[in-house]
Amino acid sequence: MEKLKIGIILGSTRKGRVSPQVGKWVKEIADKREDANYEIVDIAAFNLPFVGEGSGKEPGILAWSEKLSSLDGFVFIVQEYNHSITGALKNALDSARDEWNNKAAGIVSYGSTGGARAAEHLRGILGELLVADVRVNPTLSLFTDFENFKTFKPADLHLDNIHAMLDQTIAWSGALKKITISLIVY
Ligand SMILES: Cc1cc2nc3c(=O)[nH]c(=O)nc-3n(C[C@H](O)[C@H](O)[C@H](O)COP(=O)(O)O)c2cc1C
Repeated sequence: MEKLKIGIILGSTRKGRVSPQVGKWVKEIADKREDANYEIVDIAAFNLPFVGEGSGKEPGILAWSEKLSSLDGFVFIVQEYNHSITGALKNALDSARDEWNNKAAGIVSYGSTGGARAAEHLRGILGELLVADVRVNPTLSLFTDFENFKTFKPADLHLDNIHAMLDQTIAWSGALKKITISLIVY
């Protein structure tokens, strides 16, 4: 069977963001498992207009839809902005619908309290989009996992949690893919 395709979605787009460092770290750990094809998906690269403000046919919107359709599951790299997710991630979530449905997701979050409040907000949104979010949520601290809040230096203790999150994301992504295929076939 073909390997699952998992997108590691960078939730922030601001200049000077640290999310690419976190995404790269997760991808390096994930790639060593050889259980799926992992890729970084950078929202910033899609230049998504705000929902409802464009024609809905911008190249970025079409590319976003195609990218999400090609993926079987997701790992969200989530940063806490005012106790929630970024506006950019919310807009990216709102910019597709069916493409998210019946897939699984893990969440890796960071912030002053591990980004837990943003991760919990994201779970509510994912429920509406029919994305099955897994329980284990590695939470990284701006104080202890980053140097000067800028340079990512994760503590070793997070490694087990990343693997546990990936174990379940892969299991659920595979199971949901089979169910979706059988729904299409029959
Ligand atoms: C507008 C804004 C609001 C923020 N609000 C919070 C917050 O409520 N809680 C928190 O822990 N960190 C908060 N932060 C700190 C961010 O989590 C931190 O800057 C982090 O590096 C952002 O991720 P990024 O660098 O990938 O964009 C906020 C940062 C910004 C820019």
